[in-house]
Order: sequence, then structure tokens, then C-alpha cells
Amino acid sequence: MAFLVIVILVSKLIFFSSNFLAATDMINQFQSLEDNTTLVSNDGTFELGFFTPGSTSPNRYLGIWYKNIPIRTVVWVANRDNPIKDNSSKLSINTAGNFILLNQNNNTVIWSTNTTTKASLVVAQLLDSGNLVLRDEKDNNPENYSWQSFDYPSDTFLPGMKAGWDLKKGLNRVLTAWKNWDDPSSGDFTANSSRTNFPEEVMWKGTSEYYRSGPWDGRKFSGSPSVPTNSIVNYSVVSNKDEFYATYSMIDKSLISRVVVNQTLYVRQRLTWNEDSQTWRVSSELPGDLCDNYSTCGAFGICVAGQAPVCNCLDGFKPKSTRNWTQMNWNQGCVHNQTWSCMEKNKDGFKKFSNLKAPDTERSWVNASMTLDECKNKCRENCSCTAYANFDMRGEGSGCAIWFGDLLDIRLIPNAGQDLYIRLAVSETDEKDDSKKKVVVIASIVSSVVATLLIFIFIYWSNAKNIKEIILGIEVKNNESQQEDFELPLFDLVSIAQATDHFSDHNKLGEGGFGPVYKGTLPDGLEVAVKRLSQTSGQGLKEFKNEVMLCAKLQHRNLVKVLGCCIQENEKLLIYEYMANKSLDVFLFDSDRSKLLDWPKRFYIINRIARGLLYLHQDSRLRIIHRDLKASNVLLDNEMNPKISDFGLARMCGGDQIEGKTRRVVGTYGYMAPEYAFDGLFSIKSDVFSFGVLLLEIVSGKKNNRLFYPNDYNNNLIGHAWSLWNEGNPMEFIATSLEDSCILYEALRCIHIGLLCVQHHPNDRPNMASVVVLLSNENALPLPKYPRYLITDISTERESSSEKFTSYSINDVTISMLSDR
Ligand SMILES: *[C@@H]1O[C@H](CO)[C@@H](O)[C@H](O)[C@H]1NC(C)=O
Ligand SMILES: *[C@@H]1O[C@H](CO)[C@@H](O)[C@H](O)[C@H]1NC(C)=O
Ligand SMILES: *[C@@H]1O[C@H](CO)[C@@H](O)[C@H](O)[C@H]1NC(C)=O
Ligand SMILES: *[C@@H]1O[C@H](CO)[C@@H](O)[C@H](O)[C@H]1NC(C)=O
Ligand SMILES: *[C@@H]1O[C@H](CO)[C@@H](O)[C@H](O)[C@H]1NC(C)=O
Ligand SMILES: *[C@@H]1O[C@H](CO)[C@@H](O)[C@H](O)[C@H]1NC(C)=O
Ligand SMILES: *[C@@H]1O[C@H](CO)[C@@H](O)[C@H](O)[C@H]1NC(C)=O
Ligand SMILES: *[C@@H]1O[C@H](CO)[C@@H](O)[C@H](O)[C@H]1NC(C)=O
Ligand SMILES: *[C@@H]1O[C@H](CO)[C@@H](O)[C@H](O)[C@H]1NC(C)=O
Ligand SMILES: *[C@@H]1O[C@H](CO)[C@@H](O)[C@H](O)[C@H]1NC(C)=O
Ligand SMILES: *[C@@H]1O[C@H](CO)[C@@H](O)[C@H](O)[C@H]1NC(C)=O
Ligand SMILES: *[C@@H]1O[C@H](CO)[C@@H](O)[C@H](O)[C@H]1NC(C)=O
Repeated sequence: MAFLVIVILVSKLIFFSSNFLAATDMINQFQSLEDNTTLVSNDGTFELGFFTPGSTSPNRYLGIWYKNIPIRTVVWVANRDNPIKDNSSKLSINTAGNFILLNQNNNTVIWSTNTTTKASLVVAQLLDSGNLVLRDEKDNNPENYSWQSFDYPSDTFLPGMKAGWDLKKGLNRVLTAWKNWDDPSSGDFTANSSRTNFPEEVMWKGTSEYYRSGPWDGRKFSGSPSVPTNSIVNYSVVSNKDEFYATYSMIDKSLISRVVVNQTLYVRQRLTWNEDSQTWRVSSELPGDLCDNYSTCGAFGICVAGQAPVCNCLDGFKPKSTRNWTQMNWNQGCVHNQTWSCMEKNKDGFKKFSNLKAPDTERSWVNASMTLDECKNKCRENCSCTAYANFDMRGEGSGCAIWFGDLLDIRLIPNAGQDLYIRLAVSETDEKDDSKKKVVVIASIVSSVVATLLIFIFIYWSNAKNIKEIILGIEVKNNESQQEDFELPLFDLVSIAQATDHFSDHNKLGEGGFGPVYKGTLPDGLEVAVKRLSQTSGQGLKEFKNEVMLCAKLQHRNLVKVLGCCIQENEKLLIYEYMANKSLDVFLFDSDRSKLLDWPKRFYIINRIARGLLYLHQDSRLRIIHRDLKASNVLLDNEMNPKISDFGLARMCGGDQIEGKTRRVVGTYGYMAPEYAFDGLFSIKSDVFSFGVLLLEIVSGKKNNRLFYPNDYNNNLIGHAWSLWNEGNPMEFIATSLEDSCILYEALRCIHIGLLCVQHHPNDRPNMASVVVLLSNENALPLPKYPRYLITDISTERESSSEKFTSYSINDVTISMLSDR
């Protein structure tokens, strides 16, 4: 018998060594894997072996990567924190049935596993899922691997993997980012699942909380906008007293997709391999917006994405420091507006708040079998209890969860959030009793006064001037204090005249809204673009200089850089970086050049313009409304990176003045939102409208002012897009030159987002922060409303509905003032 075993083993060994190069997915206890060989999973998807990461690292690691993806994409690393410096390591299985990664030069163990098994012959196998397992040679039961790499993930969450914990096995599967592209060692960005009363997914930057999914409520994570249904990924969560984990599988098994935590960007993203472009595409990303960031608005604050500012105090609370709050320093959060004593009867009550992401559960308590009424009493009994809610949201909701102390990290989840009952002074709750009626009446008067005030503020805000006052009020001060360390380069008129050959016609690049643009070459060889502003502005020099200075401080990779200005002899010149590939319209609307813009380029350009505009609207310290976004104002550098130009010009040229006869609507026919074209009301949402038009132009390759069907109501691009989309025929809208390169799913999504952006009512349009998110994920989109007012030929519109004009009471704003170019 023993003899037989030996014969079998020996024959196996011979078989093994003679076929060493043949791809195999397995080794046994008598074999080893040296630096010059690899294991390949049965279907050829994954490969296990030694590799050197990035481009500059001298180190070698044992890891698993996709065999057929040309960009080496490592999904698992064994010895990530213990690099090997040479090529003389080998992986083998020791007699105890554990992996041993041994360096043969100095005979040290680089990495090993630590499991117990009773198997007689242990084999290691690389499975088609990318899971490296140790198992009994005869046992194929996946529940019975003595060790598996899926239980010890690196930075990647693959289909079939479980992310979360298993108390029975004592496992906590945490994703830990690589330090960087060259270094797989454990970074300080991690994603794990919390083990408080409510399980949830959490991301950490070091030891500080960075993002929470919100508790799992039985159907979805409290912070996500919808139950995770998706046409690409089948996502599920298992939650019981022993286990909590998320897992997913691909519905279309031919798609290659992975989730990875990336410390360079501090995001957890899903990347999907695109066969056509041979690149990884981001299909969703967390955190998705500012409100996803942990506790952006502090204690008792609520974050509302798309609102400016994003933070508010919950009803019944006020900013702890009004001064800090108005300066968008929200960390300190909010405090009760009215205090009450817990000991006194009937002084406090609960107010229901709907559609919220449940607050941080660090200090919470749950009982799955209590009713909501019992829950309320439980909370009332305890003076430090601040809120209660249902624990399980399935069906009508059940169970009890209560919170103690500050409520942190609350955001609004429109239409999908949960109800939370927050403890307040009784006068501020819905639990009114007769003795409090007076207070209630007063409160309602107060609130209507507040509402009226808010409306006034809103109207005031909608006008340009006060955006500067309200938002820049603080900024301008800031700016003054920084003036010493920011010098705006002032150019000399003589040298600019020389650089542009005295503004000669052959150096003229084009004619913009505020004057002609020339190419210039400075004495040091630097190429610049010079905008010669026409003399229409009534603005003083000092204001002008201030405005230029503000714009020069705006720096973003998708904004054209303002290099300086020149104010001399009645000339106002702006000097910009020179953009070699002119503007987007030059490519988009030209039958030959449009072929140079394939779909991946266009999608990239769309995304980058969105980010540039978002920066202007929200991320920069100023709030700039562009007011004239269009294809010819998107310039392209020598690598076809888009950069928005002419931002801030409306302000620099005094276009914001709305008094008297100087009223001037800037903007371009075809791109202007209705409320701006007719009422002169502009806001970030009128820019969103222009972005929507631009988006539709980029997808269709057609200009918005070209009339398609002259006798049809839908005689412009928006109407055309709407009809095709509504007829279920949106593919027809995509430019024919994109036939080969188009990723249909992305293009259709762009059309859909475009239609959302050009909706009639500004409030219906998403803001740019949402647009950026919508462009990058695959969540369901809301249905756009019929674009009721289509900017058709303005003159016919005017004739056919002159009443509309008078009702808008802009009798002296004529079409010529719409600055059509
Ligand atoms: C790999 O290297 C070992 C020694 O370092 C050598 O014995 C073996 O033949 C090599 N195998 C191949 C396929 O090169
Ligand atoms: C042994 O050699 C390996 C490979 O170069 C190296 O990483 C490791 O630090 C060495 N160990 C000792 C104890 O010298
Ligand atoms: C180790 O092997 C890799 C790939 O075979 C090779 O590129 C590298 O130069 C080798 N390093 C050393 C120190 O031999
Ligand atoms: C391996 O596990 C055993 C018990 O499970 C423990 O006592 C031992 O210290 C572990 N060894 C290593 C190297 O982690
Ligand atoms: C699991 O594997 C062990 C040996 O490693 C074996 O004794 C046991 O019967 C297996 N259990 C199941 C359920 O397959
Ligand atoms: C993180 O993402 C950036 C940008 O996509 C990429 O350059 C970098 O290589 C990624 N980091 C890792 C560790 O993959
Ligand atoms: C998750 O990671 C954080 C930060 O490293 C740590 O403080 C926390 O204890 C971990 N939670 C669990 C359940 O492992
Ligand atoms: C999704 O996964 C679950 C198990 O996790 C499975 O029961 C279900 O059939 C899967 N659905 C699809 C559409 O693949
Ligand atoms: C979240 O906060 C970090 C700083 O902690 C910041 O760098 C990041 O930009 C924020 N994310 C968003 C989407 O604003
Ligand atoms: C705070 O309470 C006062 C009355 O005490 C009331 O006038 C005010 O409107 C409240 N503010 C908020 C933000 O609720
Ligand atoms: C306002 O913010 C600053 C800086 O974050 C902080 O030091 C200060 O304590 C805050 N003021 C109040 C009243 O919370
Ligand atoms: C949970 O609530 C039920 C019903 O009120 C009660 O019987 C049970 O004791 C509670 N459990 C705990 C741990 O408080």
C-alpha cells in the first residue's frame, strides 16, 4: 500500500516536472512555484506569480492578476508588507498544509498562512474567480477550503468575494488600499464593515471615519438612493448575528469588473474593463458627493446635495457659531434652538423627519422586536437619548433603534431615506397641546415671516450683483488680506503689441463676445492668447483689476489659465494661456475634423467640462456663473484636454449691472436658459441649461441653432432630442461619425442627462455636482420633463406669443441685446 502511494507520488512528480511549462492551476505538497513560473486558472482569467509593481519599484511580490488584460492589474498580493528584493523565492505547501513563501538565499520565510487541516494531501488551486485556495485534494466543497485568499483581500473586491465579517470563523475581511501605484504595502485608506448594533460599510482615512454607507435596513443601506438593483451587477447583503457581508456577481459573466479602494483619490470605485478602448472605466464611485463625506455638516446638521450651501441645521436647531456657519465652516454643527429640562414633564417631544440617511450609529442601541411606540418611550426614559427610529425598514418597518448624544452625518436622501424622530422642545414638535397654542400661532407667524424673507433673499440672490455681495462678501475680505502674496502679472502694452505684431489680422484667432482674440508670442517664446476687450464697459479700473485678479486665482485643469492683464491707454487686455487646438466647435461641427473626436474622447471632454463648471460653481472659493458656456468657449490644448474659457468675463465687463439702461444680457442664442433669455435671471442653473445644450451637441455633432424641420414645433436640437428620446429611438440622435467608437450605454445616458439639464424650470435641473455624479455612475436617472419652452427662433416666438413677453415685463429688452454671435 505504502509502495503504491510512493509510486503514484513519484509518477506525479515526473509528470509535473516534464510538463512544467504547461499552464496549470494547481500545485501539491511536493511541488513549488518559483519566480520564473506562474499558475493560471482553468479558464485562463487569472494568473498567480511573482511581479514587480508600477514602474520604479525594485521589489518583487507574490500576487494574482488578470492574465488577459494588457495593463497589469493586480487583485491580490500575498506579501504586501514584506517585499522580496531578489528573484530567488519560492512558494510551496508545507507538511502542515500551509503556504510558505521562502527566500532561498537566506532561508527566511517571507509570508505564510496559519491554518489547521486534517487533510492527508493538500493542494493549492487558483480558481477561475481569482480565489487562491488550499484544500483537501479530494474535497471540492467550497465551504471547506482550509484557507482562501478571498478571506484576506488586498485592495480589490472581486465578484464572489465576501466583504465583511464572520464571527464564527473570526474573520474580518477589510479592503486596504495600496500606498500608491508603485507600492502595494498597506496604505491608510481602508474599507471595513462596522460591528455596532447596525452593520454598515465604513471607509477610513487612518483612524478617522471618512464615509459611511448608513446602516443596512433590511433592503438597502440607509444612505444609498435606491435598493441596489442594477442591470450589470447582482448585489446582495447577508446580515445575521454571525455574519455580515456584501457580495456581488456579474449578471453578464463576460464583463470584467472589480471594486477597488484607491488611496491616490481616496475613493472606492467600481471599474469595468472596456474591451474596445482597452481601459478600465469608472462605473461608480464613493464618496459620490460632498454630502457623502462623513459628517460634512457636523452635529444636528443636514446635508442636502445640490443646494447652496449644502449644509443646514435640522428644524429646531441653530448653528453653534453663526459666524463659522456662514463662512461654510460647518464642523461645529448645530445646537438646540430651545432648551428644555429632561426632568420636567411635557417639556419635550419628538418631531418626525423624513427621507434621511440614518445618523452615525456609534452611540446607538437596538431591539429588533420593539414597536415604534415602545421605542419612543424607551428614548423618553433616557435623558441622553436624542432620537429613535425603526430598525428594520422592510414592509411597514419594525424594531427599535435609538441614538444618544450628537446626531452626526445626516443627509437628505430624496424619496428613499428613512423616518427619524428627533427629540426637541415640545413647542417645536408636532405634539402640540392646547396650552401651547399661542406659541404655535406665534411660531407659524414667525415661520411665514421667515419664509417671506427667504423668498426675498432668493429673488435677491437670483440677481447677479448680490451673489457677489452674499457669497463674495466674505471672500472679498479674504482676498484683500491675501493681496500681498498674490501679484497679478501686469503686462506692458508695448510688449503685447509687439507680441501680437500690433494686433495684426493674421494673428487674430477669433472674435469673442467681448472683443477680438489674438495670438501672441512673448519675448521668452511663450505663446499666449490676448483678448482685447471692447470699450463698452462702464466699470472702473480698480474693479476691473479686482475681477481679473479673482479670475486669475481660479485654477483648475479644465479652466483656461489667466496669465495676467494689461490696462493702459484705454486698452483693457487679458492674457491667457494659448490653446493649440482652438475650440471644440472647430472639431464638433466640421465633417472631417469631427472624425478625430471618437466617443471615448467626447465622453472624456463631457466629463471634464462638467468638472470645470462644477469648480466654477461650487468648489472654487468664489461662485462664478459663466453665463456664456458653449462649444466655442471650450478650448482644447495640444492633447485635446478641454478647458473652459471666458469665465468671469461677464463680471469683469460689468455685465452684472442691472440698473437702468446698462442692462445687458450676455450669452448666446441657442444656449440660453429661458429664464435668462427673457427675464435676465441667471443662476448656476442657467449654466446647467447651457451645459445640457452643449452635451446634446457633443453627442449629436449638430449645432443647436440649425433648424431641422422648419415646419415642426420641434425645430431645434432640444426638441429633436426630446422627440427621439420620447419615441424610444434615442440611438438616432447619436452622430453617425460615432458609429464605430460609441459605447451606447454611455451615449444614451448623456442624452438623458442632457435632457434633464435643459428642463424648463431651473429647479428641475440638476446642479453640476449631481451632473458629475450622474455621468460617472449607473444609477437610475429621473425622467426629464417635457422641455415646455423650446428656444426656437426667438423672433417667431416673440410674434406668436408677444403676450408672454409683456407679462415678463421686459418690453425694452430686444433681440439685439441678446448679443447673438
Ligand atoms: C526556474 O528556475 C529554476 C531555478 O531557479 C530552474 O531550475 C528552472 O528550470 C526554471 N524554470 C524555467 C521554466 O525556467
Ligand atoms: C532575506 O532575503 C530577502 C530577499 O532579498 C529579503 O527581503 C529579506 O529581508 C532577507 N531576510 C533576512 C532576515 O535577511
Ligand atoms: C527578476 O525577474 C524579473 C522578471 O523575470 C526580471 O525583470 C528582473 O530583472 C529579475 N530581477 C533580478 C534581481 O534578477
Ligand atoms: C497560528 O495560529 C495559532 C493558533 O491558531 C497561534 O497560536 C500561532 O501563534 C499562530 N502563528 C502565527 C505565526 O501566526
Ligand atoms: C472538510 O474537510 C475536512 C478535511 O480537511 C474533512 O475532514 C471534513 O469532512 C470536510 N467537511 C465537509 C463538510 O466536507
Ligand atoms: C488610483 O487612481 C489613479 C487615477 O485613476 C491611478 O493613477 C492610480 O494608479 C490608482 N492607484 C492604484 C494604487 O491603483
Ligand atoms: C474598521 O477600521 C477602523 C480603522 O482602522 C477601526 O478603528 C475599526 O475598529 C474597524 N472596525 C472593525 C469592525 O473591524
Ligand atoms: C443574484 O444572486 C443571488 C444570490 O446571491 C441569486 O440567488 C440570484 O439568482 C442572482 N440573480 C441573478 C439575476 O443573477
Ligand atoms: C471629502 O473630504 C475630503 C477631505 O477630507 C476632500 O478632500 C474631498 O474632496 C471631499 N469630497 C468631496 C466629494 O467633496
Ligand atoms: C428658534 O427659536 C426662536 C424662539 O425661541 C424662534 O423665533 C426662531 O425662529 C427659532 N429658530 C429656528 C432656526 O428654529
Ligand atoms: C469657529 O471655527 C474655529 C476654527 O475651526 C474654531 O476654532 C472656533 O472654536 C469656532 N467657533 C465656535 C464658536 O465654535
Ligand atoms: C426587546 O423588546 C422586547 C419587547 O419589548 C422585550 O421583551 C425584550 O426584553 C427586549 N430585549 C432587550 C435586549 O432589551
